[in-house]
Amino acid sequence: MTHPAIQLPTLIAHRGYSAAAPENTLSAVRAAYQAGIDWVELDVQLLGDGTPVIWHDADVARCSNSRGALASMDLANAQTLDAGSWFGDAFSGEKMVSLETMLALLNELGMGVNMEIKVNKGRDPIALVERTLPVMLDTLPSERLIISSFDSRALVHCRQFANSDRLALGVLFGSVPKTWRAQCEAIEAFSVHPDWPRLKRIQAEAILRDGYKLLCYTANDPSAFHSRWEWGISSVITDEPAAFKRFLDSH
Ligand code: G3P
Ligand code: MG
Repeated sequence: MTHPAIQLPTLIAHRGYSAAAPENTLSAVRAAYQAGIDWVELDVQLLGDGTPVIWHDADVARCSNSRGALASMDLANAQTLDAGSWFGDAFSGEKMVSLETMLALLNELGMGVNMEIKVNKGRDPIALVERTLPVMLDTLPSERLIISSFDSRALVHCRQFANSDRLALGVLFGSVPKTWRAQCEAIEAFSVHPDWPRLKRIQAEAILRDGYKLLCYTANDPSAFHSRWEWGISSVITDEPAAFKRFLDSH
């Protein structure tokens, strides 16, 4: 498998710079860019009308001024929501953003994205992949795109549906299971994305030895994470990219 020639960044801003702006919004991506971070992690899923949007939860209660499941909304409904004032008055009126609009901003800023295919409970991974993967592959250069998921059905379908080896796929894990190698081989993975406090050094070394990149989520305390860099970790996905950057610049 030939993977795209991705120049992996040390720091990836989780859900955009989500400590500085409402997560998964245009403001959060712009905040990352302004902080000198050139890659973001974002979550994509479908509204009830099939429109792909950048959103983490199955419903809108936590990150908007309303309630309701994404699966029950169309784009017109969804865009009436205020997806910013829950975070701060300065973000009042921020909209839920479509995948298409987000990809346009990423291209405008020349940023890379780790797009997480977010298969919430009861949602269809196949439809999600088929509605999102072609637009991502058509819009972004393969050097600026990593697609990840916790859902192995989604990842397997990405590999089959893309019909291209110019697609970097990442396997998300909580704890790294004993089956990690088989899962990676089944999709010809580019990277493994574990929950950093649960990752053991021996696992990190085996993953790297097998040629996979290692992207840890979600580390927010640079001093607590610091000893892990010597394990060879490729990138950290963080809500606090500016704090990590300052820490790394001074150590
Ligand atoms: O992709 C890393 C991380 O985003 C996975 O967990 O729940 O924050 O989407 P979550
Ligand atoms: Mg995510």
